[in-house]
Amino acid sequence: MIKPSELTWDQVVRVGSGTLGGNYLRSFWWPVALADEVKDVPVPVKVLGEELVLFRDLSGELTLLGAYCSHRRASLEYGIIQADGIRCAYHGWCYDRRGRVFSIRGIRQKN
Ligand code: FES
Repeated sequence: MIKPSELTWDQVVRVGSGTLGGNYLRSFWWPVALADEVKDVPVPVKVLGEELVLFRDLSGELTLLGAYCSHRRASLEYGIIQADGIRCAYHGWCYDRRGRVFSIRGIRQKN
């Protein structure tokens, strides 16, 4: 584990993924929203320089994923909430709570 005293100021203020400061700060839990703020539409969240999307699926579970679809980078902020994840509004790829694509255009993928 990195000790804060080992980081220079320049390393502390760079919090992107893969940086020393970013890796250090990612070793903690971060509050990103109040649970009451997340209702039936995805909520965009920016934390440590990363654009994310927070949503509550139809089963009531909260999930935080990268904000952009891995297919053509459409924003999942406009995604369609599913029973167990979110569907990209552009071509229909579905992401589960771990960010894995489990369905493309309604066709379930095998695990
Ligand atoms: S951009 Fe998301 S499914 Fe194509």
